[in-house]
Parts: sequence; structure tokens; C-alpha cells
Amino acid sequence: MSELPLRTALVTGANSGLGLASALELARGGLRVVGTVRSADKARKVEAAAADAGVPVETRILDVTDAAGCKDVVEDVRPDVLVNNAGGTCYAPVADVMEEEARHHVETAVFAPIRLARLAIPHMQDRGWGRIVQVSSVAGKVTYPLMGWYQAGKHAMEALSDALRLEVAGSGIHVAVVAPGGFRSGITEEMADVAHRYRGSKYATAFRRLDLGFTLVEPFWTDVQRVAEVVAHAATAEQPHGRYVVGRDAHASLLVSRFVENFRVGVELRDKAVRRLIGLP
Ligand SMILES: NC(=O)c1ccc[n+]([C@@H]2O[C@H](COP(=O)([O-])OP(=O)(O)OC[C@H]3O[C@@H](n4cnc5c(N)ncnc54)[C@H](OP(=O)(O)O)[C@@H]3O)[C@@H](O)[C@H]2O)c1
Repeated sequence: MSELPLRTALVTGANSGLGLASALELARGGLRVVGTVRSADKARKVEAAAADAGVPVETRILDVTDAAGCKDVVEDVRPDVLVNNAGGTCYAPVADVMEEEARHHVETAVFAPIRLARLAIPHMQDRGWGRIVQVSSVAGKVTYPLMGWYQAGKHAMEALSDALRLEVAGSGIHVAVVAPGGFRSGITEEMADVAHRYRGSKYATAFRRLDLGFTLVEPFWTDVQRVAEVVAHAATAEQPHGRYVVGRDAHASLLVSRFVENFRVGVELRDKAVRRLIGLP
């Protein structure tokens, strides 16, 4: 019986939340896993978590906005599987975000994952096998107020990923978008700080209610391990789907959003309801 080749997975943002859970899950599945982190301290955290889980996970230092660093890491690792997970939030009214900050967000959320994919594709093409998993969000299709730049990044990344999937499918490369709803992580814990930062501003009520909203919907969130299992499936299945929506909250949001957007009056009613509910000025 011929042995299956050892696959190498590169996971960005592997020191916490979904990145760490996905790196461990892929390593448990028998892949060689290289996780990127932004500091030596964070690398030690990954090594400790991997030791606790009883699996090996290598690390490389990389800020995904560093184009030369991305090239070096991909040339060194030559991944069969790329999991573009690294990402941050941008909780703020659209017009309050200065261009430099917005560019940095789009650089992390859009240019970096596509750059890493572009660098990894030739290696995947040489082997006639590759998997690119793009960690998006329900915010890749649905839009809420006060997260406009975050959503812009995820929407753009999904559009590019859908086009890329069609373009590289002939080389044995599958591109899958994983779109989770909420799960507890560094990102979600940030909302309480943001609400605190906006205290006394005209958006104080809106951020306070958004924070409260997060708390109220949390029972419907998914466990990060469940999302990591979906990432690992998309990264290793012989025939992965193009898109995975994960979580009851994500399915419900998408359903409502699709329904509402088919009717002009639906959008008006939705806007009125959301503005009142959130308490926008
Ligand atoms: N949590 C949710 O409810 C949720 C829902 C849907 C989608 N997502 C998506 O899931 C992914 C993982 O987020 P998470 O929730 O697991 O949050 P997290 O625990 O805060 O993890 C984010 C990871 O991305 C890394 N990162 C951010 N900017 C980076 C950069 N420029 N270069 C390299 N690494 C960078 C962070 O590194 P540092 O520790 O150095 O900052 C961290 O490792 C994100 O793409 C997020 O949009 C999250």
C-alpha cells in the first residue's frame, strides 16, 4: 500500500483563538503544522499548548502585513495547506476611521491572505494538490453598523476567494471560505473595551448596546473547537466545499439578511429597526 504524503499546513495568527485551535486540530490529524505568530513570547505559548495537546507545532515569526516576511516564510515552509486566519477587528463608525488605520486593516484582512495564497500557489501547482482556507466571518456577507471596515475586509476577501477558487481548481487546488458566527476569543473580548473607550461620545449608547447584544447572543455562539474542526476538514478533505457557514447565529443572520435585501421596503424597515435597537444618534 502506498503511503500518503506528509502534508504541511501553514496557519497564520496561531497563538490564540481559532488559529491556535486550528493548528492543534491539524497537528492531531497528522499534518506537519507551522503556525505564524508575532513574537517569541507568543511562539512559546504555541509550543506550550502543543506540548499540552501532545502534538508537534512549529512556529515562525510573521506579521502578515510584512510582504517580504510572507515571501520568506512561504519559501521556507512550502505549504500544501494554507490557513489564512490572522485578523483583527475594527469596531468604529466608518467615518471615524482614519485612512491609515483603514489601510492597515485592509492590508491585514485582504492583501495579506491573497499575497500568501499567491506565494503558495506555485508550490501547490507543482504537487498538483493544495488547500487554501480563508477564515472569513458572517460579516463577510452581512453588514451591521459600527463594524464597517471589518466587514469591508471580509466581504473583499470572500469575493477574491470565490474568484480564486474558480481560477485554480484545475490545478488540484481547493479554496474554501469558512464563515463562522461568534465564538469566544481575543476579538470578542475587545468589545467591552471599545464600549468603555466610547463612553461620553455620541456613540456611547450604541457601543454599550452592541456590547450587551454580544452578551445576549453568546449562548448561540459556537465553540472555537467546532470551528477549528471545520477548518481542518476544509484543509484536508478530498472534495472540500467552497463555503462553510458555522454556527446557529451565522445561519440565522444570513437567512434574515438574504430575505430583507430582496425587498426595498425590507431594507428600510431593517435600517429603522437596527438604528432604534442599537440607539444610533
Ligand atoms: N471571534 C469571533 O467571534 C470571530 C467570528 C468570525 C470570524 N472570526 C475570525 O477568526 C479569525 C481569528 O480570530 P480570533 O477570533 O481567533 O481572534 P484572536 O484570538 O484575537 O486571534 C487573532 C490572531 O490573528 C493575529 N493577527 C492579527 N493581526 C495580525 C497581523 N497583522 N499579522 C499576524 N498576525 C496577526 C493575532 O496575533 P496577535 O496575538 O499578535 O495580535 C492572533 O494570533 C479572524 O480572521 C477573525 O476575523 C472571529
